[in-house]
Amino acid sequence: MNDTSFMILPDKEKEQKTLNYRNLGSLLSYTSDEKENLLEIKCENGYVSVIFYREDIVRIIMNPKKVPSKKTSLAVVKEPENVLVEIEESPELLKASSRKLTLVINKSTVNVSIYDPKGRLIVSDSDNGMGTNEKQEVICYKRMDKDDHYYGFGEKTSFLDKRGERMTMWNTDVYAPHNPEIDSLYQSIPYFMTIRQGYAYGIFLDNPSKTVFDMKSSMDTYSFSAETGPLDYYVFAGPTPKNVLEQYTTITGKMPIPPKWALGYHQSRYSYKSEAEVRELVKTFKEKNIPLDAVYLDIHYMDGYRVFTFDENKFPNPKKLIQDLKDEGVHVVPIVDPGVKEDPEYFAYQEGVNGNHFCEYLEGNIYYGNVWPGNSAFPDFTNNEVRKWWGDKHEYYTKMGIEGVWNDMNEPAVFNETKTMDLKVMHKNDGDPKTHRELHNLYGFLMGEATYEGMKAQLDGKRPFLLTRAGYAGVQRYASVWTGDNRSFWEHLQMAIPMCLNLGVSGVPFCGPDVGGFAHDSNGQLLTRWTQFGTFTPYFRNHSVLESIRQEPWSFGEEYEQVIKKYIQERYVWLPYLYTLFREASVTGLPVMRPLVLEYPLDKHTFNLSDQFMIGTDVIVAPILKPDTYHRVVYLPEGTWVNYWTEEKLTGGKHHLIEAALDILPIFVKEGAIITQGTVKSSTETKESELSIHIYPKENGESSFTYYEDDGSTFAYEDGAYFEVKIQVKMENNRLNLSFHNLSDQYQPDWDKAVVTLHKVREDLKIAVNGKEQLNVEFTGENKITLPIKIQDL
Ligand code: NOJ
Repeated sequence: MNDTSFMILPDKEKEQKTLNYRNLGSLLSYTSDEKENLLEIKCENGYVSVIFYREDIVRIIMNPKKVPSKKTSLAVVKEPENVLVEIEESPELLKASSRKLTLVINKSTVNVSIYDPKGRLIVSDSDNGMGTNEKQEVICYKRMDKDDHYYGFGEKTSFLDKRGERMTMWNTDVYAPHNPEIDSLYQSIPYFMTIRQGYAYGIFLDNPSKTVFDMKSSMDTYSFSAETGPLDYYVFAGPTPKNVLEQYTTITGKMPIPPKWALGYHQSRYSYKSEAEVRELVKTFKEKNIPLDAVYLDIHYMDGYRVFTFDENKFPNPKKLIQDLKDEGVHVVPIVDPGVKEDPEYFAYQEGVNGNHFCEYLEGNIYYGNVWPGNSAFPDFTNNEVRKWWGDKHEYYTKMGIEGVWNDMNEPAVFNETKTMDLKVMHKNDGDPKTHRELHNLYGFLMGEATYEGMKAQLDGKRPFLLTRAGYAGVQRYASVWTGDNRSFWEHLQMAIPMCLNLGVSGVPFCGPDVGGFAHDSNGQLLTRWTQFGTFTPYFRNHSVLESIRQEPWSFGEEYEQVIKKYIQERYVWLPYLYTLFREASVTGLPVMRPLVLEYPLDKHTFNLSDQFMIGTDVIVAPILKPDTYHRVVYLPEGTWVNYWTEEKLTGGKHHLIEAALDILPIFVKEGAIITQGTVKSSTETKESELSIHIYPKENGESSFTYYEDDGSTFAYEDGAYFEVKIQVKMENNRLNLSFHNLSDQYQPDWDKAVVTLHKVREDLKIAVNGKEQLNVEFTGENKITLPIKIQDL
């Protein structure tokens, strides 16, 4: 009855009940411990602790019943620094200041306001402040400014700017629909960033139970709340959006650089069901010269969906298959779900039961839920020793040569009404037992930690690759994220852009949707346009559901195949640029694929720009997102931009109508940009023969780009084994000075020649490289000049 008009029967109108809310009341007393940067406040109706983590990061914990515990969730990797905090008191106010922010507490309401050192208000509580309601939910109300725009919140549908949305964080397996009103998906990242008139601050509510962010119900107030547990949140003082991301990822950690093969093109299907089918697939890629770095094995590879097994009939010799494909530059990535089949003759189940590794009720009985293998038990990843057990089990895969794993169904998904585990399950949580209701959103994250750390220990210095569906804040430390079961609809292609952008703003740089759409049937045009978009999504995998029309690159005929191939190849051409940005993300937390508002936070055209995005600071990508459409409007912000394909110069600060035949993905490069590119190759395993450096010089301008490269496969980069060169360009009166500053040569790239291409320059341009006049410069027409350079010169 639910999905008919019965839902809106007049008499059914529900009484809108507001749950009695009680705020903290007035401040009764406080103590401060400057050494620990700690302020403990006792209020009429609860307790508040304030801890400075850094001069620009402050943590506020409110517990209505007792002095808050300072224990954090496992999302947090940072310990508080030694911050010099000055405490001041007046009859009305209590102030705590670091050099970067001042926290002001109103003694009669315990409302908190935070200011920057110049007295600019960063964020403040609204009149309701912090408190609880009759359901014992903890809530914080903050003022919403008319110029506020909200970004982040992890994996959410709908547009980029989340002002006007109410979002619930509760990891959920949503097969369908993914539409704007679907609120909870697989990932929960209870964090967001506010941008107001170019300034930014961030808030991270560290609570893995059900949390709600309401940026909708009021015009001048927003709130965040948690169903259970303390109200434990961090404020990041900015002041720029990029500062906020650095601050948030200081607390929750940064992505390690992924292995290069994980950044290539990946092919998946639910499922490639036999060794023969997998071999045939790879053979076709090779014959057709379509690059490929990984093939996925979905649930059918297993023996009765038992994890850590292969079906011996369909995959008689997995080790050989994996080795043979590796020799061709293709990695095999098997799926691993958390549900362990209840089968007394199955070793993983036996080990789990004997070792007490499964989730149990308080009373000591194991929780069982129905998933692919039927009745299954679920590892209790909240216990360190269970994570170790699970991680160690991956030796089964790594010994076969597998270096990447795909975690699915780890919300955890269970085939029942609630879609997940019984909330009464009591997690052991390393001696601090908590119910599943309290820890739900952490389950997938902890499975990721177990898997990643296990594989890392087994791979002998090589970087593991992990793909996960579920996660929590900090998931970037272990895994890349794909956006789950989308469908082959144009609307889902459209939706994937703001979804990935907000994941990026939420500290997850390595993400992407199923290219072509997972469920429903794709078609040639949709797959082509989606693959064009995929060229620039950090994670690039084509995946589709059982019984849907096949959507491998050649599935819809020659015309589409050629364009799809061109864009998969283009991915490899752009990889040296993308890889440098991945490295940047691992250092700064900034996403590879980013919303324009991150770069242009004062430009109102960017605030909710959801159909185009940036790669780093200098490239705008504007995919075609509608059928039978060969043009689109593109917004180019301030500056001058060059159409990547036509070399036409376009003035920024306005919208342009751009033509885009089926084989064109509109790409724009900012004047001044330096873009490093590689060559087309069959997989990332093929050595790079030549580095191309494309320069789009700006008349009377200066710019630079720091190019980064390492072995792409081990952690040696952590010990300094990388190649880094700063490329600088200065152009004055038709005279161009190009200089290379070698910042690190602890790694020797494969290529020994770089070819510099100068775009949109005059034939009589004078060029100097590292101060030396270049006489033998080749003019290649179309306003381009090329210049070969030896690696020794860099
Ligand atoms: C659900 C996942 O989201 C999908 O990608 C996968 O193919 C199926 N589970 C089967 O494993």
